[in-house]
Amino acid sequence: MARSDEVTVRAPAKINLELRVGVPRADGFHELATVFHAVSLFDDVTATEREEGITVTVEGMQADLVPLDGSNLAVRAARLLAERTGIEAGVHLHVHKGIPVAGGMAGGSADAAATLVACDILWRCGLSRDELVTLAGELGSDVPFALLGGTAIGTGRGERLTPALARGDYHWVLAVADHGLSTPAVYAEADRLRAERVLPEPRVSDQLMQALRAGDPAALGRVLVNDLQPAACSLAPTLRRTLTVGRQAGALGGLVSGSGPTVAFLARDTEHALDVAVALSASGVCRDVRRAHGPVPGARVVEPVHG
Ligand code: C5P
Repeated sequence: MARSDEVTVRAPAKINLELRVGVPRADGFHELATVFHAVSLFDDVTATEREEGITVTVEGMQADLVPLDGSNLAVRAARLLAERTGIEAGVHLHVHKGIPVAGGMAGGSADAAATLVACDILWRCGLSRDELVTLAGELGSDVPFALLGGTAIGTGRGERLTPALARGDYHWVLAVADHGLSTPAVYAEADRLRAERVLPEPRVSDQLMQALRAGDPAALGRVLVNDLQPAACSLAPTLRRTLTVGRQAGALGGLVSGSGPTVAFLARDTEHALDVAVALSASGVCRDVRRAHGPVPGARVVEPVHG
């Protein structure tokens, strides 16, 4: 039986099927054209009403790597919502992590999106979806997509979204590294590596959109691309080996997810995903191997996992 002073919201991880990165803008962000795809690794945020203060606890995968101070994205999301709506109540946020931390899969953004939805309900703010998306964009470039889910094209710094026409279910194998990568450091390395080049306006490829419309995993596997991959591999050279192992294991395609270091491989079906996962585990190139499917929905209310 759900308690009225407690709300649990589940939000998904993302992979960028294509990530095109332009030149840095005046505000320090890079102009992007990307295809976000939500996959079935989730963080759950349980928001429990308190008279005052915003606190957070974290459990689950790599929980010890998540900050518990004001820099925590869930805390920042609750604070932003309280400020903008004039709410004075407090909240305790409990985050159950299933998304790799600092892995390029937008785990922190998922926590922020889940917190916005949970606190909006708990505090009876009554914000519209559009109002929540605007707040999400202020919290981070990937937060609006964690609200929306599915498969979507992102432009601007990634926060402007258009749902993509996509058919079918895709099976992914995720090689989780034993270290994180700092997103700003990866963007800075990309700028350094590409300093001599004239960069085109970032744009999503027609081939990728066609593959998605056709629901054709083999075609999709051939066109997965990430402009941040050379930079992530430059900062974490072992990723090159991870990419090779996955391809040799027969993956339809593979790429570093976002700013990395998680590497995502596309498989034909569940059985093929298991084969690729076994090969990656046996090679010892990564800390952990997870399987997931996509697309899945964005942040949504669920029954709490523990009572
Ligand atoms: O928006 P978010 O907080 O996720 O961004 C983290 C960092 O990633 C930014 O501070 C910036 O260094 C880099 N970034 C960027 N261009 C983007 C998105 C992120 O340079 N479009």
